[in-house]
Amino acid sequence: MPILVENMQRLGTETAFEVLARAAELERQGRDIINLGIGQPDFKTPPHIVEAAIKALRDGHHGYTPSQGILPLREAVAADLDRRHDASVDPDTIMIMPGGKPTMFFSILMFGKPGTEILYPDPGFPIYRSMIEYSGATPVAIELREENDFSFNAAELLEQITPRTRLIILNTPGNPTGGVVAENEIRTLVEGILANPDVMLLSDEIYSQMLYDGKRHSSLLKYPEIRDQLIVLDGWSKTYAMTGWRLGFSVWPASLVESINRLAVNCHSCVNAAAQYAGIAALEGPQDSVIEMVQAFDERRRIIVQLLNQLPGFHCVKPGGAFYAFPNITGTGFTETDLQNMILDEAGVATVAGTSFGPFGKGFIRFSYANSVENIRIAVERIGEFLINARH
Ligand SMILES: Cc1ncc(COP(=O)(O)O)c(C=O)c1O
Repeated sequence: MPILVENMQRLGTETAFEVLARAAELERQGRDIINLGIGQPDFKTPPHIVEAAIKALRDGHHGYTPSQGILPLREAVAADLDRRHDASVDPDTIMIMPGGKPTMFFSILMFGKPGTEILYPDPGFPIYRSMIEYSGATPVAIELREENDFSFNAAELLEQITPRTRLIILNTPGNPTGGVVAENEIRTLVEGILANPDVMLLSDEIYSQMLYDGKRHSSLLKYPEIRDQLIVLDGWSKTYAMTGWRLGFSVWPASLVESINRLAVNCHSCVNAAAQYAGIAALEGPQDSVIEMVQAFDERRRIIVQLLNQLPGFHCVKPGGAFYAFPNITGTGFTETDLQNMILDEAGVATVAGTSFGPFGKGFIRFSYANSVENIRIAVERIGEFLINARH
């Protein structure tokens, strides 16, 4: 029998992938499933980005690159951050990563160990808690509440800091709620972080370009005074519909660049070379496809929120960003897990139970609206029929 180390037993997972597998199994059995479970754009990567990768392969970019990423890509990222956030970032503090996830994986490994505490959003992306537990650190939930539109109160958050706190994880716009943290809360948080110089901040800004109703993104990079305590995670997966390319980046304090490079060398050596050239084309090329995709998400957001609010027992706040709706389903009388399973099996609609994103997701279900308006309408109609039949 293989004898696994103890940490492996504490490693969690992402339930969305399990729902996806179950949905695929039902499809194999001939069922018609509408997938509102998976967190990825239903758009294709824009053609000019695909062409840049093909050209890179034809031009012979087949070997290793520097572990930190090729300089022209890091320069393009710095220019993009300047354009989007009015933030000056040294390309030497930018790390090109195989997606967004490795940045959370590595930063939690860097700061988490038994006896330390890491604060993370709940409901939140499940990998945060999974990796905190793997590291042996104690996970401390930052509760995101429906009545706050799933933002947080920075003063309350700062009170959760103890001498054992090493890292605080933030995610705005957020998965699974679509919640957006307002600028004034970010400012309060920055002041509090400055007063706690041993506490690091990991700001997951992967949905930073997906904002609605005129909301603007409050990047932590706008506060140069906390750069020594700040790691920012972002990437191409969502913005450019490139989840399968595995391309992301992070910005690090200068003092940690050597450590993060070492972790990268030990883990993946470098990111796929052709994907890095594609990343340059994405940032430097036309941005029309990003604008069009966000407009499409905005239309679907309005429709799904309106439809979900008409379902008996559902209540859905309007999400300000990302591409998720997170309705409260306590009025249906079902638990979130039962409802997730029943609407998949009986209505043919894949969603994800709120508790997959932490205990404070109890009573909620996540809908990803990265699907067509037509499918969204059919899906909600089917759920409505299921709920009416379930009452009889
Ligand atoms: C909040 C958040 N951060 C990071 C990621 C991971 O992105 P990637 O696919 O680039 O690793 C996701 C993906 O769903 C996410 O929702």
